[in-house]
Amino acid sequence: MAVIYPHVETLLSFLFFLLTSSNASAVRTSSAVSTRSESVDIDWETLGFGLVHTDYMYITKCSQGGSFSEGELVPFGYIEISPSAGVLNYGQGLFEGLKAYRKVDGSILLFRPEENAARMMMGAERMCMPSPSVSQFVEAVKATVLANERWIPPPGKGSLYIRPLLMGSGSVLGLAPAPEYTFLIYVSPVGNYFKEGLSPINLIVETAMHRASPGGTGSVKTIGNYAAVLKAQSAAKARGYSDVLYLDSVHKKYLEEVSSCNVFVVKGNNISTPAIKGTILPGITRKSIIDVARSQGFQVEEKAVTVDELLDADEVFCTGTAVVVSPVGSITYLGKSVSYGGSGVGLVSQQLYTALTRLQMGLSEDKMGWVIEIK
Ligand code: COI
Repeated sequence: MAVIYPHVETLLSFLFFLLTSSNASAVRTSSAVSTRSESVDIDWETLGFGLVHTDYMYITKCSQGGSFSEGELVPFGYIEISPSAGVLNYGQGLFEGLKAYRKVDGSILLFRPEENAARMMMGAERMCMPSPSVSQFVEAVKATVLANERWIPPPGKGSLYIRPLLMGSGSVLGLAPAPEYTFLIYVSPVGNYFKEGLSPINLIVETAMHRASPGGTGSVKTIGNYAAVLKAQSAAKARGYSDVLYLDSVHKKYLEEVSSCNVFVVKGNNISTPAIKGTILPGITRKSIIDVARSQGFQVEEKAVTVDELLDADEVFCTGTAVVVSPVGSITYLGKSVSYGGSGVGLVSQQLYTALTRLQMGLSEDKMGWVIEIK
């Protein structure tokens, strides 16, 4: 087996992990893990959405047809993987994204982690991979967050982004499911996703390239979906746009999603968003915003949304774990640009952003039962 980026500390902890794995289902904390309490050297005011190395990551493995057993927290670092791993050769991999927030009283909050667990299970089924159970996923997330507690930004300064990965780590040469799988979680403190911060983003509708097609994997969080959007995204950024909005690949007139988030269109008291039909990601923020908007009296419809409706909207916004609720300032389609919300953030986008983030940060009563306090 070849070694990518040999790294002594990581190799040692990985060996420790291999030697000491057992079949219990809890998260095991090796003696090497002690939650560090000294404060971290970060300027919380300038935090963006980039990787910051934290203290620990969670890792567990299982064979094809098996189930994940007890995982372990090990120091954050490089992993050893075969050059013929399924994930490297055939893209057999999934990821998730969720966030932990620190409350003013110091406690730590997670937002609907069981939804991410369920989505990973669904994706694993599509990608022929075993997956952790919902409780194993949630326990692993909690343990990883607590071990990295000192990296959670102070209230109002950002969040701890949690990135679970599921990958075919075993060797294959001919096309087949990998014989071994790795479930890993790492975390990083983050601020705003778009460089615009909370200011409106400018999107261009992509008419030549498509993100997904019926029967494909557009509705699962597989890694290849994200590699596939880089070309259009890079071209759009080079032209000064923030990101790309995709259309359906059959009729080429219905909205799908933006590279990394779902899209919503506001007209008066009506809010519409593309229905989940196999080609768009069933976002957890999307689902939450639909419920929050309905609870605030908006008529929300999940349906086929046309480009014409988009161009005729009062407001447009995007939702996702990373982007939260991101107002759209303009859309460009076939050379024509339409602006929304005057020069600032639209009222509906602002209202929904505030309602959701107050819930996530524990600043308003959680009537939905979405927030889990882990300390
Ligand atoms: C997220 O919103 O968490 C995602 O997974 C999107 C990613 C491209 C940052």
